[in-house]
Amino acid sequence: MKHFRPDPSRTQIGLAYGPPALACLDALPDALDYLEIPFEQLRHTPEAGDVQQRIPLILHCASVSVAGTVPPSAQTFDAIAATAARLRTPWIGEHLAYVSAEGLDDEGDAIAPSALTYTVCPQLSEASVARVIDNYAAARARLGATPLLLENAPQYFEVPGSTMPMSAYIAEVLAHCDAGLLLDLTHFLITCVNTGVDPGRELKRLPLARVVEVHISGMSTQSGVAWDDHAVPAPPEVFDLLRRVLDEVRPQALTLEYNWSGAFPQAILQQQLLRTRALLEAA
Ligand SMILES: [Fe+2]
Repeated sequence: MKHFRPDPSRTQIGLAYGPPALACLDALPDALDYLEIPFEQLRHTPEAGDVQQRIPLILHCASVSVAGTVPPSAQTFDAIAATAARLRTPWIGEHLAYVSAEGLDDEGDAIAPSALTYTVCPQLSEASVARVIDNYAAARARLGATPLLLENAPQYFEVPGSTMPMSAYIAEVLAHCDAGLLLDLTHFLITCVNTGVDPGRELKRLPLARVVEVHISGMSTQSGVAWDDHAVPAPPEVFDLLRRVLDEVRPQALTLEYNWSGAFPQAILQQQLLRTRALLEAA
C-alpha cells in the first residue's frame, strides 16, 4: 500500500475519488500525488480502498457533524478511527457543518438520527462556536492520533440567529481548537457571493497560517444564488483566490473535487491539473 508523506518543500496535488479521478490515474499516473476518499464510501464499498495499491489516500469525512447537535454513534467513531489507521492518512478532513439531525416521526416524536447527506452551514454564532469546541474535543478523544482538519461549509443563506460572518466564525473556532484548516476556496467564494461580501477582503480575515489543505471545485448559479457544483470546472475567481492564499501560506495538499459526474471531461480535468500545478510552482 502507498501512503501520503507530507513534503514541506511543495504542495502535493490530488483528486477527489470517483470515476474521473480513476480515469486520470490511468492516463496520467505521474500527475497525481494522492486521491482523497470519503470515509462513507469506504464504509459502504470497502473495495474502493484497493486503489491504495497504486496511489496514497487521504481520508475525507462527513460523518462527525462537528457543528451539530447529534454526535456520531460509538460504532461510527470506531469505524472512522479504524479506517484512518488502516489508510495511514495524514489527517481527516471533516466539514465544519452539521450533517446529522434528530429524526422525527409523523407525530413529531424523536426517532433515530438521520443523516442529511449534505453539509449544512451552521448558525454562525458564539453558541455554535461553543458547540463546535465541545464536539471537536469529543471527536479528538475518539479518533486517536490522526489530526482533524475542519473544512469551511458553503453558505446559501443566513441561518437565523447568526451573529457573525463566516470568516469570523472560522477564526473563532480555530482560536479554540488545534485543528488545521481545510480551506475550500469554492465554498468560500460561494459564501461571499451569497452574503454580498468582498472575497479578497474576507480572505484576509481568515487564519490562513492554519491552512493545511485546499479544495477547489466548480460553482453554479441558480436564481441568483451560487451553489457548490463538483460537475463543472472552477471559475477564474477561485484561482485568483488561490494565488492570494499562496502569497501567505504553503498548503501541504491541494485537492481538485470533480467527483459529481462520471462524464466530467478528462481534457478539462487534466488542463485544470496542469494549471494548478503551474500556479503552485510559480508561487
Ligand atoms: Fe470541499
